[in-house]
Amino acid sequence: MNTVRWGLLSTANINRRIIPAIADSQRGKVVAVASRDDETAQAYAAKWEIPHAFGSYDAMLTSDLIDAVYIGLPNHLHAEWSIRAMSKGLHVLCEKPFALSVEEVDQMIAASQRNNCVLAEAFMYRHHPQMVIAGEWAHGGRLGDICVVRSVFNFTLQIQHNIRLNPEYGGGSLWDVGVYPVSLAQFIMGGPPRWVSGFQRTGETGVDETFAGILHYAGDRIAQISSSFRTPFYTTAEVIGTQGRLTLNRPFVVLDEERKMTFHPRDGEPIEIPVPNEELYLGEVEDMHTAILDGTPSYLTLDETRDHIRTVTALYQAARTNKVIQLD
Ligand SMILES: NC(=O)c1ccc[n+]([C@@H]2O[C@H](COP(=O)([O-])OP(=O)(O)OC[C@H]3O[C@@H](n4cnc5c(N)ncnc54)[C@H](OP(=O)(O)O)[C@@H]3O)[C@@H](O)[C@H]2O)c1
Repeated sequence: MNTVRWGLLSTANINRRIIPAIADSQRGKVVAVASRDDETAQAYAAKWEIPHAFGSYDAMLTSDLIDAVYIGLPNHLHAEWSIRAMSKGLHVLCEKPFALSVEEVDQMIAASQRNNCVLAEAFMYRHHPQMVIAGEWAHGGRLGDICVVRSVFNFTLQIQHNIRLNPEYGGGSLWDVGVYPVSLAQFIMGGPPRWVSGFQRTGETGVDETFAGILHYAGDRIAQISSSFRTPFYTTAEVIGTQGRLTLNRPFVVLDEERKMTFHPRDGEPIEIPVPNEELYLGEVEDMHTAILDGTPSYLTLDETRDHIRTVTALYQAARTNKVIQLD
């Protein structure tokens, strides 16, 4: 096998970003799409020039036409369909948030081991050169000792009937976009926090429309994260150390023309840090291809994903109970 044959599990909006990335990668091809509805699948396949369309998810999984699936389902279906796909021997790239509980993550990891399948969370921003460079700055000592990571991901959710507003689907701003600041904090701090506290504004829909959290790490390092569906689009990240701080104005949604990463040293003028342009979704796809075709371990490990989900569920527990939640 020298090309990965991909099947898209659903006609989700987010597919529009993954289809061009798979085409650009040279080692993969989208060969099939499945929808709950046959007409939807046929129309989608025609629009995106996908050779095969299936009117049920199961039909695609048992078709023998694909090697891997991309799961862009609502959050509450990620674990179930990842496990179903792996039980058919298919590799899985599953959208963030990977799952809604640590128990689900463990079941997914067990299924990947049992069936010898590559399994990864589609956290595209972690693969982009910008984040690799930010990690080198933070971990290479140039900022001094890291004291604080601050990060925000907000936007206005205008559509009323959206999977993000349904509590039963794993809706909520933390599950949707707050997971990015949480993941960034874990990446920079090198592991999960020791304890967390969290606060949420619950909307009429029953999901957190705004969330803010404080995460406390070993060595008395702190992260502040927040997310919202209620404000104009705003995202930022700042890594603050004893020798200076690193600021990123587009940490997660890397638009090349607007992106800026800057080092503000303790003394002297701010320094712009150059970042190579790269399509945002390419890295996660190429990582899957090297894992499947060359047997290379995934860049984003399942341990990191597991710790990340554990932290997010602890944040929700903290907000629900109004208590500090201990993780270690
Ligand atoms: N990494 C990123 O940049 C990024 C960006 C956006 C979203 N995401 C993630 O991608 C996932 C999908 O988000 P999206 O905005 O693309 O969602 P979406 O457009 O609402 O698509 C979800 C799809 O799931 C299928 N589905 C199955 N059961 C469903 C149900 N009960 N209700 C609604 N849809 C159902 C539908 O496909 P069929 O009708 O074809 O079966 C639907 O098109 C989420 O997990 C989200 O967090 C990631």
